[in-house]
Amino acid sequence: MKSGYKIEFPKITDSRGNLSFIEGGHHIPFHIKRVYYLYDVPGGAERGGHSHKELQQVVIAMSGSFDLILDDGTSRITVSLNRSHYGIYLGPNTWREMDNFSSGAVCLVLASENYIESDYIRDYNGFLEYIAGIK
Ligand code: TYD
Repeated sequence: MKSGYKIEFPKITDSRGNLSFIEGGHHIPFHIKRVYYLYDVPGGAERGGHSHKELQQVVIAMSGSFDLILDDGTSRITVSLNRSHYGIYLGPNTWREMDNFSSGAVCLVLASENYIESDYIRDYNGFLEYIAGIK
């Protein structure tokens, strides 16, 4: 699956509101080992600014909205997330930045591995060198 791929989760709607669900082994293309979330993000803040060597993630706007900028070293796309029943797949070797968080936005992330700092590349030039080296 390519970074930026949009995964649609089921949405059950009735007069009481909406319900969506995510089943491991069904909707997510990896075993979910960790869940984390970003919230109370101040206006104007930017998050991300790194790539991963191995980690796979799915990013969901549980509430509010924000932009996800994805860069494969050649081209850069911006994906706006603003619906709770969509997730964006983020694979390894993708530089990602997040900005434009709305007030009250909550970003939920499903991850394939526990937090491992050595899996991060936090320097953009280092990212370009790394992907050139694995091609
Ligand atoms: P980081 O991944 O740099 O945040 P973002 O990319 O969203 O801006 O993480 C910020 C800090 O939180 C950093 O010190 C590492 C820590 N952290 C954990 O301890 N566990 C986690 O699962 C995550 C995602 C971060």
